[in-house]
Amino acid sequence: MCGIVGYVGPQPALPILVEGLRRLEYRGYDSAGVAVRTDDAIWVQKAVGRVSSLAAKTRLGPAGCIGIAHTRWATHGGVTEANAHPHLDERARIAVVHNGIIENMSELKRELEQQGVVFKSETDTEIFAHLIRSVYDGDPLQAVSYAVKRVRGTYGIAVMFQEHPEQLFVARNGSPLVIGLGDGETVVASDPQAVVEHTRRVVYLKDRELAILTRDGVQVHSFDGRSLDSSIEMLEADYKVADKEGFPHFMLKEIHEQPRSIQRCQLGRIQVEDGNARLGGMELQPRDLVGIQRVIMLGCGTSYHAGMVGSMAIEALARVPSRAEIASEFRHRHPIVPREALFVAISQSGETLDTLGAIQEVQLKGGDCVGVVNVVGSTIARTCGRGTYLYSGPEVAVASTKAFTSQITALLTFTLMLARTRDLSYDKGQEVAQSLHDIPAKVAHYLERPGPIDEAVEAIVDARYVLFLGRGFSYPVALEGALKLKEIAYVPCEAYPAGEMKHGPIAMLEEGTPVIVIVPRDSQREKAISNIKEVQARGAKVIAIHTEGDELVQSIADISIEVPACAEYVSPLITVLPLQLIAYKAGLALGRDIDKPRNLAKSVTVE
Ligand code: G6P
Repeated sequence: MCGIVGYVGPQPALPILVEGLRRLEYRGYDSAGVAVRTDDAIWVQKAVGRVSSLAAKTRLGPAGCIGIAHTRWATHGGVTEANAHPHLDERARIAVVHNGIIENMSELKRELEQQGVVFKSETDTEIFAHLIRSVYDGDPLQAVSYAVKRVRGTYGIAVMFQEHPEQLFVARNGSPLVIGLGDGETVVASDPQAVVEHTRRVVYLKDRELAILTRDGVQVHSFDGRSLDSSIEMLEADYKVADKEGFPHFMLKEIHEQPRSIQRCQLGRIQVEDGNARLGGMELQPRDLVGIQRVIMLGCGTSYHAGMVGSMAIEALARVPSRAEIASEFRHRHPIVPREALFVAISQSGETLDTLGAIQEVQLKGGDCVGVVNVVGSTIARTCGRGTYLYSGPEVAVASTKAFTSQITALLTFTLMLARTRDLSYDKGQEVAQSLHDIPAKVAHYLERPGPIDEAVEAIVDARYVLFLGRGFSYPVALEGALKLKEIAYVPCEAYPAGEMKHGPIAMLEEGTPVIVIVPRDSQREKAISNIKEVQARGAKVIAIHTEGDELVQSIADISIEVPACAEYVSPLITVLPLQLIAYKAGLALGRDIDKPRNLAKSVTVE
C-alpha cells in the first residue's frame, strides 16, 4: 500500500520519479505527489487522483537531479492534496514520503504540538518530517535515526534535505524498499518494477535498516548507527516491466496468461513418469514429510481461497488433516501452533501485513512455516526462509487471477509430494501428476471458446443481489468468483456452500435473481443439481458452470457455460476461469476502472 520512489543521479529527477510512480500505481492510487530539490527550495507538486493527474501538473517542473515521490492509499486522513505526500517540515527544508502506519501517532503528535509545531495535514507521515527537524543540527543521518527510533509501526520512508543535495535517506521497518544501483545514479522504490529500467543491480533493505543513497551507491546502517554490509543482488534475467501486450487491461492479459503461468509453475516440478513431484525450495525430505501431522494454510483474499482448495486436496489425497485460516483472524486470537503441523503462508505480493503477522506468530511459538509466494525476495518469502515461488511474473491488476491458479498449482504439487509419502500409490500418483500436467492445455482450450459470458453478464449487471453456490472444491471457487465480482464490478453478491444456502440466503431469492452455480462433474454434482432445482423453484435464474457434455445440467440451467472435463481436485483451476471473465466483463459493462478498482490496493501493508 502506497508506493515510494526516489532518485539521485545526473538526470532531471522529475520525469524519472513520475514514470516510477506509474509502475507502482497498483500499490495505491487515490493521490500522488513529488518533491524535487532546486537550488533555492524543495519544489513540491501534488494531485488528487491518479498519477496521470500528477503527470499533467508536473510537465513544466524543475530540472533538479534529486527527488522523492509517492502514490497514496489513504490510511490517516482523507484523500486531499494536503494529505498527499511528500510532507515537509515547517521550514520546508526536509521532505518525507512514507509507506505504512505510525502506531504511536497521537503521542508523538501531542509532543510535537507542545513544542509549537503546527500540522498541515491529517497524516501520520508528517510526524516524521517534524521529528527529524526537531533534532536536526546539520547531521541528517543522526536526525533520521532519531526519528525512526521514536516511531512505532510499519514503514518505509524516503527523506530529502535541502541542505544535502547529494544524498537521500531511506529506512525500513516492515514496508519494502529496494535500492537500484545504476551507473552514476541510484534509484529507490517500493518494488523493482520502478527500478528495472535503470539497473538490475539491487540491494533489498532489511527491517530496521537505514541507508544513505548517493549517485555512487549506498551505505547501509542499523537503526542504532552501526555501519552494515549490504549484499548486492541481480534482478532475474527474465524480470521486466509489466506490459499489457496489446490487451486493453492487465486483468484480461493476466487471465489469458494462465496457460503459460500455470505451466511455468509446474516446470521441473511435476514428474508424470515417477508419479511424483518436487519442490526443492520447501527443503522437505520424505522423512520430514512423513512427520507432518497437519497442514495449516494462512492467507488473505484470493490467497486464502487458494489455501482452501489446497487444504481440501491435502485431506482428499494425502489424508492429512488440513485447514485454511484467514491470516488476520489467526494472528490475533492467540492461536495454537501444534508442533507437528506445517504452516503454509500463501501470498502473491509477499507483503500482506496480516499474513506476515500470522507467520511471525507461528514462528514465535516455535512453529514451522513455508511460503508460497509470487514476488521473489519479498518480505514473506524472506521471513519464511523456505518455500516455493510461483513464477507467475508480475501481476499488475489489483484483482488477482493468474496468481490464484498458480497458487493452487503449487499447493497441488505439494499435495502430491506429501501424498506419495503416505497412502497414494504410484498409479494414483501418476494420475494426479498427469491431471496437473494437462491443465495448461485445458485452460487454453477453454479461453479460446469461453461460452456465453456476455449473456451471463447481462443477467447480473443490474441485479440487486447475485448468489454464487458451490460444493466441495467448488465452494472456494464460488467465494473467489464473488470476490472478483465485488472487486471489479461492485455488484452486491455473496458466495455460499450450496448445501448451506437453505439456512438463510434462500430468503434473498426473488423472481429473476441470478444464481451462479459451479457444478462440474464431480462427487458433489447430484447434490448441487438439487440445489439448482431449489433456487429455480424460487424464481432464480441459474447460470451454471459445468463440465462439457453434461446434458442434464445444460438442460436445466438458464445459461450454461461449459468447461473442459478434469479431475475433481484440479477443477478449481478450470471452473474459476468463466468467473474471472464474468467479473471482468461486468466491470467493463458498468464502466469500472478494471485494473484499479475503487478503495482497493494490490499489496496491503496495513492491518
Ligand atoms: C489484496 C488484493 C487481493 C489479494 C489480497 C492478498 O486484498 O487486492 O487481490 O488477494 O490482498 O494479497 P497477497 O499478495 O497476500 O496474495
